[in-house]
Amino acid sequence: MDLYHQLKSTLKDVVPECDLPYKAELAQRIIELKEEKNAVILGHNYMEPALFHSIPDFTGDSLELCRQAAATDKDIIVFCGVRFMAETAKILNPAKTVLIPSPKAGCSLAESITAADVRALREKYPGVPVVTYVNSYADVKAESDICCTSGNAAKVVESLKAERVIFLPDEYLARNVARETGRQIIFPGKTPRPATDTNDLLQYEMVGWHGRCEVHEQFTVRDIERIRSQLPDVVVLAHPECSPDVVAASDFSGSTSAMVRYVREIDAPRYLLLTECSMGDNIAAENPDREMVRLCSIRCPHMNEITLEDTLAALEQTRYVVELDEDIRMRALQAVERMIAIG
Ligand code: 13P
Ligand code: SF4
Repeated sequence: MDLYHQLKSTLKDVVPECDLPYKAELAQRIIELKEEKNAVILGHNYMEPALFHSIPDFTGDSLELCRQAAATDKDIIVFCGVRFMAETAKILNPAKTVLIPSPKAGCSLAESITAADVRALREKYPGVPVVTYVNSYADVKAESDICCTSGNAAKVVESLKAERVIFLPDEYLARNVARETGRQIIFPGKTPRPATDTNDLLQYEMVGWHGRCEVHEQFTVRDIERIRSQLPDVVVLAHPECSPDVVAASDFSGSTSAMVRYVREIDAPRYLLLTECSMGDNIAAENPDREMVRLCSIRCPHMNEITLEDTLAALEQTRYVVELDEDIRMRALQAVERMIAIG
């Protein structure tokens, strides 16, 4: 079957048919160019349905794509995701060309913290290990002891067997991990404190930061209550970047791929995903027997920067090349490799 008919059959309920000839043609050119240039395309679960279902060699959550980036033998890695993900691919593959189709694909979490912030925290809490969510830039990773993703955050924290850990930069993921691992958490960066820091008198095992995902912070318990009152049999899945109250009011919380697996494996009348809306479309396309309830007014503007058009231009023009300072890359690599070793 040619790509157009393949996409038409997979996406018949999620993409208007009139869009497909154009998208299939673009995707076909990308696939040909990818072969010609010995490139691999990695696609995050949030990519729009036509892109997600046509050009990537591998799709998945941050952790799965990180593993694929570490394993590839291709010359070029095209990362259909956001910049911190493409940077992680470069950290793992210094000799390869890593491309991101749009330089505008940032992330509010990654932008919430700088390397200088991490150094200041280390000074304030000497000897306390730093766990950094992969949704951060390479210079921040370079100041960290170990990275984690939403799929392994609690496991990474527990692996350290430390009395205290600094967990950066997502406030809500940190609060969710603190709850899961039974730790008290404080947020010294949230409000400037006077010289006599009362936190020093408190019992705490985690130190967090005030970063937030601009998408997941918007979901509320009220949203869940309203949807449950309209559709009482709905199963609610929340990404751990949602607030702890939202996670507690949901039926399941996990990384993007954990949510995909849940829908595949657990039978329910209908599912609501509290995450970027494209993922609901992607799951609906793969599981036509599953009813997905969409909340599409909340979108990730960064992930949505990545289009088929820009991916084609990236391959044609070898743009936009991800470059990292070698000293930063080497130090960030240690933190990323420690995480990969834990799984
Ligand atoms: P995952 O690692 O769960 O795919 O999440 C990445 C992300 O950016 C979620 O907003
Ligand atoms: Fe960043 Fe949130 Fe977008 Fe994920 S959904 S890339 S955490 S802004």
